[in-house]
Amino acid sequence: MSVPDADRALGGTDQPNAARMYDYFLGGSHNFAADRSAADGLLRVAPDARANARENRAFLRRVVGYLLGAGVRQFLDLGSGIPTAGNVHEITHATDPEARVTYVDVEPIAVETSRVLLAGVPNAEIVHADLREPSTVLKRATLLDRTQPIAVLAVSVLHFVPESDDPTGVLGAYLDALVDGSYLALSHVVVDEAPPPESEDGLAVYRRTATPVTLRNSGQVTAFFHGHPLAEPGLVPVSDWRADGPAEPSAIHGAVARVTL
Ligand SMILES: C[S@@+](CC[C@H](N)C(=O)[O-])C[C@H]1O[C@@H](n2cnc3c(N)ncnc32)[C@H](O)[C@@H]1O
Repeated sequence: MSVPDADRALGGTDQPNAARMYDYFLGGSHNFAADRSAADGLLRVAPDARANARENRAFLRRVVGYLLGAGVRQFLDLGSGIPTAGNVHEITHATDPEARVTYVDVEPIAVETSRVLLAGVPNAEIVHADLREPSTVLKRATLLDRTQPIAVLAVSVLHFVPESDDPTGVLGAYLDALVDGSYLALSHVVVDEAPPPESEDGLAVYRRTATPVTLRNSGQVTAFFHGHPLAEPGLVPVSDWRADGPAEPSAIHGAVARVTL
């Protein structure tokens, strides 16, 4: 799907949108009545949705810190979202102002607010593209030097990519473009047992958006890493991934793998 097609598919502000619902959960202001109404509907059947969003952001922060510690200085953040506290470039630049960050999102408001935030910021860029088109994304990620390790981040985004769009194959294309010592980090809603009946109501909320949610089990999410070894503690609830303080349990699971060629 090309970006103009994707933009159309995302609907106007009358249709709830996953990026803006997430912004609402995190206390942001880049959301509209339709987003807030859908998000409140989700909170009624899944009261943990707000805590899940917070824990997911905390996971992202810890992952970026871990990757910086591992020596990575380039980040490709797929489905980066509407900017909020703790953006990847803020974390990386606090450690190394030379670290490079390419954000990618398909949602126009996420892209526009990122553009405003990044104006005049060196070593960070926003690409308006669909992550399902790896060759387009990689071509337009002009800050990144593909002869050096890159960490690909796909944090809380792949559950918006249905099986019919082959997310495993899409990630494989990114992995094939990386050099040894690169990383893939991702988080995803994981359901390993029969989902409770109310989860159907939650899925129905996202079916009103242009990006319905696909639930996957641990095995399906692990397959996204194409056999590259997972760093300890493996694929676990994001709240348990190298937690640095008390955390709320989370239905979103995350892991980090080192690309070993
Ligand atoms: C739940 S937010 C996650 C934001 C951020 N990664 C985080 O974890 O805090 C999901 C983001 O993925 C974006 N997204 C969904 N499908 C996408 C696609 N096919 N290509 C690029 N971005 C996509 C949405 O627009 C949204 O901004």
